[in-house]
Amino acid sequence: MPTEPTRRRITVTEDGPILVQGPVEIVLADGQEVISDRAATALCTCRRSRRYPFCDTSHRRRVRTDRIRGAEADRTCDR
Ligand code: FES
Repeated sequence: MPTEPTRRRITVTEDGPILVQGPVEIVLADGQEVISDRAATALCTCRRSRRYPFCDTSHRRRVRTDRIRGAEADRTCDR
């Protein structure tokens, strides 16, 4: 008896990865197959990940907090 295919949810994020629910088998452009058995898999869309095809959060902009703190300190000294 044929079974209904399970519908997976794929979420496209703005400026970030594509989130795929459930275990997945990924076929890369060169034919290599990669398997993820995680409940949700984040696929890199920016190509900056060191774990490509998986997202490692390298897409996030890095903000130097020491400069921000310095700017806040400058503002408090302007009185
Ligand atoms: S989308 Fe996250 S590292 Fe590329």
